[in-house]
Amino acid sequence: MTGIYPTIRRRYGDGMSAVRKRESEPRRFSIRLPRPLWILLLTWPLEMDRIAVCRSGSGTWGLELRRKNMFTMDFHRLLTLTISMCCVAALAHAADPEHRDSSYFLEGELAGSLKSDRPLPLYDPDPQSLVNRVFAAFYIRASEIPGKRGGTPIRRIEGGDVIDFLAWPGSAYWSEPETCRRLSSLVDECLDNLPRLRPADPLRRAMLQRDLWAVFDFYAGRNIARDGDKATRDRRDEICRKLARLIHGLTLSPAEIESLPDTYATAIKSGKFASEHRFEPSLDYLPPRLLTDAEEWQEIDFFQPHENPTDFQSRNVTSHTRNYMGRSYFRIFYHFPGGRGALENYLKIIDKEGLDWQKSAQFGGARFLATAPQVPVGTEVVLMQLLITLDDQLRPVPTRIVESVQMRTFRNVDGKPEPPTNTGVGMNVSEYVLKRGLLFDGLKQGGLERTPDDKPIYRVIFQVPNAPDWGSGGRSLSLAQDCRRCHTAAGQVGGQTISSLVHGGGFDGGATLGVSHPLAAGTPSPRGSRAAMWKTRHETYRRLLESLGE
Ligand code: HEC
Repeated sequence: MTGIYPTIRRRYGDGMSAVRKRESEPRRFSIRLPRPLWILLLTWPLEMDRIAVCRSGSGTWGLELRRKNMFTMDFHRLLTLTISMCCVAALAHAADPEHRDSSYFLEGELAGSLKSDRPLPLYDPDPQSLVNRVFAAFYIRASEIPGKRGGTPIRRIEGGDVIDFLAWPGSAYWSEPETCRRLSSLVDECLDNLPRLRPADPLRRAMLQRDLWAVFDFYAGRNIARDGDKATRDRRDEICRKLARLIHGLTLSPAEIESLPDTYATAIKSGKFASEHRFEPSLDYLPPRLLTDAEEWQEIDFFQPHENPTDFQSRNVTSHTRNYMGRSYFRIFYHFPGGRGALENYLKIIDKEGLDWQKSAQFGGARFLATAPQVPVGTEVVLMQLLITLDDQLRPVPTRIVESVQMRTFRNVDGKPEPPTNTGVGMNVSEYVLKRGLLFDGLKQGGLERTPDDKPIYRVIFQVPNAPDWGSGGRSLSLAQDCRRCHTAAGQVGGQTISSLVHGGGFDGGATLGVSHPLAAGTPSPRGSRAAMWKTRHETYRRLLESLGE
């Protein structure tokens, strides 16, 4: 995160209670051989059978010898067949998304680290193709920090098929002369070979554009913050100018944008996700009717005191959108077990008697009264991140490509450790993120994959303005602990941790404090166009246009 300060001013407690490990599925015994090997195993007896048939007509010694030769010949044939089948199997293995994790270490201190810094075959089957090389140059880098606070630094190779560009305000790496030289000449190679680089498939192109747009915003953001000496800023400027041309070359026509898939619908249709949560954090659950049943799930919008003139609108973007510098928009959904009516009632009561409005206004965010009524057990809340793309006129346009889904389900509302949850404070949390490996492989699982709850993560967004490389917390918190850090602030549990109930994030930007409301059924979400409007007014966007002389 650069250029934009975190808009949350809460204090996040450090003391994390033990987090319940995600239960692993009971192991079933199975021999996982790639399909070609199974074919081979089945053909062996058939081949042997053929030899036996040859033998059955034998009567003389000479013939016997011939048969021996035949057997040797068949054996060689089979050996060659075996070797070639193994090669095919190995290739199929590498391309099979179920095995894409083979590029990463899965256990121990290196879990989540890539095994090598070589490009991955994500955008194209050839890992060394230009498109994979440029992606790797920006999305793979080594870290050397401790796995625990105060521990010994370990070397890991981070990134790969991840959604965040691994850069923080204090990252020296991206601005070093050596890195800039290498990146600059690689971007030159891309510009010289644009037709070869440019994916014909609009989905891949939108993703590559997104991946490079994040880099542009980072470099532009550091220069807007006037970080570093003149030589450093010039190096960043040079990369920005080149990246802007590349991004321009990767835009989509309105028809291509229209053709981009609804990846959440695909995720649900894939049948890969559980359709009920059963309060069981080990289930990979995605609510099937989240976007289709406005009575079961209500989309939430922030409070606005009156029909707003347009400039007022852009104050009401989420803090997440600001942190992603308007390259993503976020939709928020609530589900109350009692349905839409129960939610509307709850919001009315909170508005009337749940908040200390004076303290809230002076603090710049919700301050609940101790007597505030609680949300019912079983309440679920969802935050969905979706991609914004640039069209061929360089206008930001919202798409239906889901980049992440975060969920919280309340199992109790008093924060007690029982019944157990993966945070230990009455709520189960989960996160699903977009994986290019799945998305580009026929939209498998809608491109979404669950992030393990119990493995340490890097937090890229919501950092302080001078956050060091790899973030203030490094890799010290697991995903579940990280969610807890913000969503149980100041000892609050239950409904008080639903940050979007009152839009504190926009307060400094001029938004009026007030309780959020559900959109009426059938109302199109205002979030995408609002975030796109916010982006067009942001300095990073102006710099993108200026870099192109537009
Ligand atoms: C750095 C603080 C921070 C962390 C860490 C964090 N969130 Fe949030 N979360 C927020 C804020 C702020 C909002 C309100 C939306 C906005 O304005 O961006 C929010 C909103 C949400 C919402 C929408 C409903 C609500 O509570 O308003 C969900 C669901 C959610 N977060 C889940 C998670 C999960 C799951 C994790 C862990 C993977 C997590 N969050 C980690 C700050 C945080």
